[in-house]
Amino acid sequence: MNKINRDHLQSLRDREEKRFVTEHPRSADLYRRAQNSLLGGVPMNWMKKWAGEFPIFVAHAGGAHFTDVDGHDYVDLCLGDTGAMTGHSPKPVMDAVADRLRKGLTFMLPTEDAVWVGEELQRRFGLPYWQFTLTATDANRFAIRIAREITQRSKVLVFHYCYHGTVDESFVLLHDGVVGPRRGNIGPPVNPAETTRVVEFNDLNSLEAALKHNDVACVLAEPAMTNVGIILPDEGYWKAAQELARRHGSLFIADETHTICAGPGGCTRLWNLQPDMFVLGKAIGSGIPGATYGCSEEVAQRISARIELEDCDVGGIGGTLAGNALSLAAMRATLEHVLTPAAFEHIIPLATQFAEGVAKQIRASELPWNVTQLGARAEYTFCGHPPRNGGESAAAADFALERFLHLYALNRGVLLTPFHNMALMCPATTAADVDLHTQIFAEALTDLL
Ligand SMILES: Cc1ncc(COP(=O)(O)O)c(C=O)c1O
Repeated sequence: MNKINRDHLQSLRDREEKRFVTEHPRSADLYRRAQNSLLGGVPMNWMKKWAGEFPIFVAHAGGAHFTDVDGHDYVDLCLGDTGAMTGHSPKPVMDAVADRLRKGLTFMLPTEDAVWVGEELQRRFGLPYWQFTLTATDANRFAIRIAREITQRSKVLVFHYCYHGTVDESFVLLHDGVVGPRRGNIGPPVNPAETTRVVEFNDLNSLEAALKHNDVACVLAEPAMTNVGIILPDEGYWKAAQELARRHGSLFIADETHTICAGPGGCTRLWNLQPDMFVLGKAIGSGIPGATYGCSEEVAQRISARIELEDCDVGGIGGTLAGNALSLAAMRATLEHVLTPAAFEHIIPLATQFAEGVAKQIRASELPWNVTQLGARAEYTFCGHPPRNGGESAAAADFALERFLHLYALNRGVLLTPFHNMALMCPATTAADVDLHTQIFAEALTDLL
């Protein structure tokens, strides 16, 4: 197996940095100017973390491509980290949104679109009742509140290296087997060890041991992990894990915000899961803020047994703009016209093409890396075998190498999902877009080795 020479990697990174700075003068100017009005020079702190000395500023986008303020065109394999999995500004959604813009956006009252969307979500995911929020984070937070309320238990169980948005309970890791705050956790309200149990994915014994305390309100999980590389469940894992949760009185919340890439009904439909609650955000409105959570008949009955009408606006579940008319119009158009079964028939083979192309280059270069695919999403990791849990995947992370590969691709017109090596396909992505990435990846490996 080949090894990366670190001095050589550093000199390549320096070369790519120089090229990046030279070719993006307008982004550099905007970033300099932004230092005076935006904290850290960016509208959201993590935008500083892109590979390259500064983030590129976007001018406009359409479908699977966008153009930056310096006039460079990019194949977008990041797609707003799933927010634009529909492609940028898909026409049916833009038409529905434009129509809604002229008719009023937010009322604290429902529109007919909400009913259409509720019925469609019911059909796709099997859960009977739905609510709407502005972000998947909020949907997760509210689902957790409900789980705690109806079980009268305090703890949330998550997997080591999970990500579910900025949910306090989930910024937690195992440190040599002991639960504690995740590195970088900013001002945790309490030590998350007080609120959260953490286990490794694909480990039923640990899951059972954690649930046995009978204090876990809910297991909050992506059916396949996607935020620390893609980690697929072992055969039979979810059947047994759901059974354990049920036996110990804990609810199972399936967060399918990313795993919707598996198919029109997410992993829930694909793998015949039976979650008690279900969360979906980001792509559901094609980038217009909106998210949803659904619940089973039993959960719905337990909620109505405990929540009084008089108190329902002050219970910690809400948001003035949640369920607004614009979000719902965008969701309806997205589900009806964009994230359709036919769209998945186009995007999943493209992810296979991406995975096979990258895997071939990895084999040819004799590198101990591998590629994993979940529906329309594929990711390569610097791990000799497909990781089975968060700990294994995180141990194989290589920040310097990852930044080099991202910057190399960016300098040649391809945007990968930042902070890991993920590529997502949208209905407008073409085979040529995928081939461009494969070719650039091959050149990067040749340069590296
Ligand atoms: C699985 C999962 N759930 C929830 C979220 C939170 O989404 P948002 O940041 O839109 O609230 C994310 C964000 O990356 C996610 O990956």
